[in-house]
Amino acid sequence: MRNERVPTGIPGFDKLIGGGFLKNSINLLAGGTGSGKSIFGLQFLYNGITKYNESGLYISFEESIESLKQDAEIFGWDFEKFEKNKKVTFLYLTPYTTTDLQALLAEEIPKAKAKRVVIDSISVFAMALNDLYRIRKQIYFLTSSLQKIGATSILTSEIVGEAPIDISGGGRDGSFSRYGVEEFIADSVVTFHNAGLGGSGDRAVRILKVRRTDHIKGPVPFEIGNQGIKVFQKERSYK
Ligand SMILES: Nc1ncnc2c1ncn2[C@@H]1O[C@H](COP(=O)(O)OP(=O)(O)O)[C@@H](O)[C@H]1O
Ligand SMILES: [Mg+2]
Repeated sequence: MRNERVPTGIPGFDKLIGGGFLKNSINLLAGGTGSGKSIFGLQFLYNGITKYNESGLYISFEESIESLKQDAEIFGWDFEKFEKNKKVTFLYLTPYTTTDLQALLAEEIPKAKAKRVVIDSISVFAMALNDLYRIRKQIYFLTSSLQKIGATSILTSEIVGEAPIDISGGGRDGSFSRYGVEEFIADSVVTFHNAGLGGSGDRAVRILKVRRTDHIKGPVPFEIGNQGIKVFQKERSYK
């Protein structure tokens, strides 16, 4: 079915986007450092395994696998037990030695039998390519090969500073991604905000676009608690 959904299982999130990400879609999560992108990716994979019987592949260009698994453990997500039976595969890659990500994915995704893929982050991967033309070409081919492989993917994108809440003029440099192509290629763009002021209203998530979906438009507050990410009801933002 064309509009089949892949639920993230993240409390409160799926209903913002019509029940989940579109099946086989590419979803861009953009935000500053510490805004919750990696935790979202981990939670997406963990729920995939435990609630929806879908295997996952996590490709990290940033944090070490050890560190990611330690973050996950605090939320009670024991990935190690699922690594043993290949329900999840973690790969740490250095952006300077991995130049053909497309070929690597074509090999690793079927090997991992992954239905859910997280690439964290596309910004660090692209940083290693030295010219914008190559970057855009690689990202373009990468996304089209991800779609062909038949996995639902998350690409994280590190924004310098804070993702803008006022989107009327685009991002601060007219874009929500570093190279200005990711957001056009992606089927959905979600921004993570972290005002850095502390308190429960500090974090918000915003759905900028989802193809073929009538989605919630404004920023919606969320928290990172002892069970990971929990998105509040939309109404909370007005209280
Ligand atoms: N166990 C936890 N409880 C509450 N908040 C946490 C916990 N672990 C991490 N965080 C918060 O999550 C942030 C890191 O989230 P992360 O997903 O790694 O960010 P990003 O990938 O966007 O840089 C930390 O800065 C911290 O504020
Ligand atoms: Mg991260």
